[in-house]
Amino acid sequence: MNRKLHIQEVVTRDGFQIEPIFIPTAEKVKLINALSQTGVRKIEVTSFVSPKAVPQLKDAATVFENIERNEHVTYTALVPNVKGAIRAIEAGADEINLVMSVSESHNIKNVQKTTEQSLHEFKEILKMTKGTNIVVNGSLATSFGCPFEGEIPEQRLFHFLQTYVEELELDSVTFADTTGMAHPRQVENRMKKAVEMYPTLPITVHFHNTRGMGLANVIAAINAGITRFDAALGGLGGCPFAPGATGNICTEDLVHMLDAIGYETAVDVDKLIALSKQLPKLIGKDVPGQVVKAGKITDLHPMDE
Ligand code: COA
Ligand code: ZN
Repeated sequence: MNRKLHIQEVVTRDGFQIEPIFIPTAEKVKLINALSQTGVRKIEVTSFVSPKAVPQLKDAATVFENIERNEHVTYTALVPNVKGAIRAIEAGADEINLVMSVSESHNIKNVQKTTEQSLHEFKEILKMTKGTNIVVNGSLATSFGCPFEGEIPEQRLFHFLQTYVEELELDSVTFADTTGMAHPRQVENRMKKAVEMYPTLPITVHFHNTRGMGLANVIAAINAGITRFDAALGGLGGCPFAPGATGNICTEDLVHMLDAIGYETAVDVDKLIALSKQLPKLIGKDVPGQVVKAGKITDLHPMDE
């Protein structure tokens, strides 16, 4: 064992996009700067989407302008179209995270496009990034299930994976379980096949804990050979355009579990817990994360407490 795993933080994007209140720009910057010192490998800073669709992230460019970069961290941004890519490149994103849903219905709901139209936008974006050192990751939202269509057929998922890798020649791919419909057996089967298809492709899995299967799905993905995991501090998160969406798997809970098992993440769980404790003040409510409330398994109590 002792495999090295990458932890990628998405709280300021996936986490904040669904909060009913606008998190002040300065607070976003402060949190990103602090997260940059925890050992996470990548931070999804924000989205370059329509401010009408996601007003919570309308300050994307200002956030990018003001963060202090840690050279060991990749600063990425979600992008659905050419306009978003232009804004992300201008803002100096290290990576562009293209997003399209495998489900036709969810893609229309989320970005008002058919999958064909999304792929067309992506080809235009790749003309802009070619020859630059901007990394382009492709996310496949609703990779496992869709709130409108149910389980996504494997064949359809691998068709789009192949398009991303062979036609678009993207640098890396993320399989996202947008509304927590994946289960461990499905994850293990699908991820084994993906790894078999493209053994050298960097693959991330992005799970939501909507039905309590998030961390179980992580173990299933590890069993299939996946080493990169998105997670959100406090377990915040969710897609505003998917009914019933709830939080991502919680970063501190994930790292706490992986530490207990003995995987190497290089992430300081105590720093994460300290930051997670500050979230309720920002969002005006409790967070779904559990370790921040229960403490770590190594935090013992005196018997007479
Ligand atoms: N950034 C900023 N503004 C953008 C934009 C972008 N990436 N893309 C489009 N816009 C603006 C246009 O300039 C236009 O503005 P106007 O009304 O002031 O002229 C308006 O948005 C509509 O543009 P259009 O190209 O017709 O977009 P649309 O209405 O078809 O919406 C998206 C498409 C993708 C822009 C929109 O659905 C979106 O932003 N979705 C967000 C999805 C998301 O973040 N989901 C959660 C994460 S998975
Ligand atoms: Zn998500």
